[in-house]
Amino acid sequence: MSIWERGFAAVYDRMNAAMEAGVLGRRRAALVGDLEGQVLEIGSGTGANLPHYRNAARVTCTEPSAPMRGRLLHRAAAAAVPVDIRDAGAESLPFDDATFDAVVSTLVLCTVDDIAATLAEIRRVLRPGGRLLFIEHGGDAAGKRGVWQRRLDPVWTKVACGCHLTRDARSNLEQAGFTVSQYEEFSPKRTPPVLLPFAQGVATP
Ligand SMILES: C[S@@+](CC[C@H](N)C(=O)[O-])C[C@H]1O[C@@H](n2cnc3c(N)ncnc32)[C@H](O)[C@@H]1O
Repeated sequence: MSIWERGFAAVYDRMNAAMEAGVLGRRRAALVGDLEGQVLEIGSGTGANLPHYRNAARVTCTEPSAPMRGRLLHRAAAAAVPVDIRDAGAESLPFDDATFDAVVSTLVLCTVDDIAATLAEIRRVLRPGGRLLFIEHGGDAAGKRGVWQRRLDPVWTKVACGCHLTRDARSNLEQAGFTVSQYEEFSPKRTPPVLLPFAQGVATP
């Protein structure tokens, strides 16, 4: 485990506090609050979505970083729904086909090692009629922002534990054969411009 990985987990909640108190917290609640049945989260991090689940029968959180999982345990204990935590990367999910009614990815597709393998796994573990719900950031930004995102990406990726500034969730989903049925871009206040835009949406395989 690298010192960056431990440090990133230690500062993650403090770093995001202003965004969470504002628009991001509200969007997390809207994204997951009404989900029912078996829900899978990939890359749950410190568990920022967990306080917002109200109706899920069970939330299975996968998270490959041990320092993140340590923090996730605390939020899991306080959640209103049953929570399981598994040590797994999203490229190889330890679940049978068609296990979940919904998969949730918030700020994770920017970070996974292999986005095509991740989306193939999400497709595999979703039940027929299941949905992927997401909040992601970055993308095919035009103009000055895109130039800076591409320039800063190699450094940012090292500092932010694999996070890329340049991944466009929507086009990756469409390339992987998902239909993006809802999609809305937004810009949380007090967020570094290189992270923008954020996008919230729903996709089905
Ligand atoms: C920016 S954090 C987002 C955490 C959380 N989902 C949230 O909304 O706050 C990205 C998370 O993805 C995890 N991650 C990194 N590589 C991953 C992979 N290959 N598969 C799944 N998760 C991964 C990181 O450990 C980290 O917890």
